[in-house]
Amino acid sequence: MSELTSLRHIPKTNLFKKGDVFVLFGELFGRGYVNGLIDEARAAGMTIVGITVGRRDENNALRGLNAEELAEAEEKLGGKIINVPMMAGFDMDAPAGEQNPTEMLSGITLKSWQEDKLDWAKIEACRAAGVKRFTDSAAIVMAEIDKLIPDGANVFFAHTMAGGIPKIKAFLAIANRIYKGRGERFMSSRALLDSDLGKLILMNFDEVTANTLGYLISASAAIRARVTATGGSARYTAYGYHGTEILIDGKYQWQTYTNYTQGYAKMRLESVASAAWAQGVYATVFNCPEIRTNSSDIFVGVELPLFPLLNALKRENGGKWAQQQWDACQALLEDGVQLQTLLDLIESYNNNDTSAAFRNFGAWPMDNTPALADVMIGLSEEITKMHKDKKALITDHLSSLVLEGAGPLMFHGAAEQIGPVLWLNHDIIARQLNALHPD
Ligand SMILES: NC(=O)c1ccc[n+]([C@@H]2O[C@H](COP(=O)([O-])OP(=O)(O)OC[C@H]3O[C@@H](n4cnc5c(N)ncnc54)[C@H](O)[C@@H]3O)[C@@H](O)[C@H]2O)c1
Repeated sequence: MSELTSLRHIPKTNLFKKGDVFVLFGELFGRGYVNGLIDEARAAGMTIVGITVGRRDENNALRGLNAEELAEAEEKLGGKIINVPMMAGFDMDAPAGEQNPTEMLSGITLKSWQEDKLDWAKIEACRAAGVKRFTDSAAIVMAEIDKLIPDGANVFFAHTMAGGIPKIKAFLAIANRIYKGRGERFMSSRALLDSDLGKLILMNFDEVTANTLGYLISASAAIRARVTATGGSARYTAYGYHGTEILIDGKYQWQTYTNYTQGYAKMRLESVASAAWAQGVYATVFNCPEIRTNSSDIFVGVELPLFPLLNALKRENGGKWAQQQWDACQALLEDGVQLQTLLDLIESYNNNDTSAAFRNFGAWPMDNTPALADVMIGLSEEITKMHKDKKALITDHLSSLVLEGAGPLMFHGAAEQIGPVLWLNHDIIARQLNALHPD
């Protein structure tokens, strides 16, 4: 998207009710964004259906969940899971008898990876094999889901898939340096993107994070046609990331976590939704604020933009409940450390030249630099140390608030059919949270 299309009102449209079906396309983790949407679906009395990405057996073959895993996952979801493995990406796929990309890269080392070359014809054959496996499974899964959806129902498909970092030992060390390294351990994200290894990883991100939305939309075409013809409807949502407006200098300003290598895939995801919308399919990518989850914890510093949400809660007319959030955050800090001191640190970080240079929407996603890694990772570590307990951070609390706010915005926003790409910035998240907690 070349234009920031922000949601500026709280959607109120109610479409989904008991008898309607919520389909989760991805797995549910405790801190994951989709919990916000699932809470809304449950509250509306919808039937919930899920999928699994599957697990790898001892020979790395993809398998469904065993009875115990399935029972646990269904209990957590509160709904039936179609037990056909839907792992996306092609890092472990290959035509019969050929090496998969993970095997092709098994020999790379921290010394050699920038020079190591891949055979792109072979990689393309692996990609095709992975796509075929995924789309064949999607067809089976959708045929099962079809049976669970009554005529005339409204169906909410929630796409949450993102990822695709291959499990190559040397790469895990490289990733640690790119996302967490500073000083001598700093590694350039541009060096990664210019290498064959990096190009492969971007292709895999595209498959997992973006193309799966397209496969979901195609695989559910028959369901969509049937429910629409019988008086129901279908909506699709996906979680994007493309920076967020937060309060800096008293104004809502766009900023981003850098470096977000997945950004290219997230822009592709936006294009998938826009193309679907142009065909009359209501798919909306909601570009969501930075929060800490199982998936984002690797990006040290991604949590820094969360703190000014506290200011937004007050700015958006927050009262007693907003103050309680300040108090709860204050209580997590070491005795003698003031929350305001921490907010001042964030404010001066956002205003320093090094980080301000990255507030360039048109140039997104930019490469990392040693100077940025130094201030961002340094501040992240400094702030963590200001807490009483490293396992109970202010950003845990604020992350759960953001996903609570994003849930209804997406649930009712999808119902309202606003557009294919919408940013949820701190203003609207704060307004929604204050509305959910009137004094
Ligand atoms: N955490 C953030 O700061 C943030 C910000 C904006 C958008 N998002 C997006 O929100 C969505 C949910 O992420 P989250 O941060 O809540 O974390 P999460 O770990 O809870 O969710 C990640 C999802 O990706 C799925 N997944 C991972 N690898 C997969 C693969 N190979 N094939 C198929 N599915 C796979 C998982 O099953 C899970 O549903 C993602 O699209 C993410 O990019 C996250």
